[in-house]
Amino acid sequence: MSIALAEILAGLRLSEKMISPKYFYDERGSQLFDEITHLPEYYPTQTELGIMLDNMPEICGLIGKKASLIEFGSGSSRKTRSLLDSLQQQAVYVPVDISEDHLLESAEKIRSEHPGLEVLPVVADFTQPFDLPDPTIMPLRNIVYFPGSTIGNFTHDAAQELLGVMHQEAGVDGAMLIGVDLQKDPAIIERAYNDSAGVTAEFNLNMLTHLNREFGFDFDVSAFTHSAHYDAGAGRMEIRLISGKSQVVTSGDERIEIDDGESILTEYSHKYTLKGFAKMAERAGFEVRKVWMDQNNLFSVQYCVRRG
Ligand code: TRP
Repeated sequence: MSIALAEILAGLRLSEKMISPKYFYDERGSQLFDEITHLPEYYPTQTELGIMLDNMPEICGLIGKKASLIEFGSGSSRKTRSLLDSLQQQAVYVPVDISEDHLLESAEKIRSEHPGLEVLPVVADFTQPFDLPDPTIMPLRNIVYFPGSTIGNFTHDAAQELLGVMHQEAGVDGAMLIGVDLQKDPAIIERAYNDSAGVTAEFNLNMLTHLNREFGFDFDVSAFTHSAHYDAGAGRMEIRLISGKSQVVTSGDERIEIDDGESILTEYSHKYTLKGFAKMAERAGFEVRKVWMDQNNLFSVQYCVRRG
């Protein structure tokens, strides 16, 4: 049995069933996620892009010239593009992603769009320390870039650990530029994950179709519904799939029993307060130097420098 299948089965045998969010992103899933980022209800993407565009000169001034921008993730987003368009001379761009095909494809695209930029992709799991490539010109400063509030998809412990890896990769005189979604009226947050066109529901359900195809499961996808609930106490969105009937799901000889009404957790999306995030950044050895927000304080982009 593959390690991946063993992991999926282990998650489905927990008392609270879960499947890793990495299984959202097959071809259809990536397409649906792109659609989500254009939905009127899904404020994070447009808001973060707006914050970046409104403050680009100041952001690039802080980053400075001859910087190496190390993106955690493969970076094909509009945010990354606009940042690379505006960066000062002799910058290096280092996208880091575990999915090699996707990474090299997007690196090639960025290279063709930014002829002056040295693009050095690194295939690695960015939750663990990794070696940085050697650019032709020695950078003055490493800037770790982590947009999209992807930090929110990690539990607090895992996020703290990831900030530690970022601190290490930033190196002496380094910094971090990070998108962090903020706590706010729960109705606004819940709407972002329960869009009226049903794209988010389809995205969530597609995970089961993906597992059926790739790992030989036989989930009755049509019996499941999408559920997205904001837990204000925990400060997080909890996204689940709920089975509307009892079913036995198999893959080869493996059997999983799912009760009527039982749920499978597919993702957490933590929302932060400015104070809460600053505390975590400090614990990892960063100091929050500058916070940019939109008019309604929905989302933040934060520039954090390495202390000591
Ligand atoms: N990283 C995104 C977020 O937490 C992913 C996402 C958006 C998502 N919509 C979703 C994940 C719906 C699961 C279901 O905002």
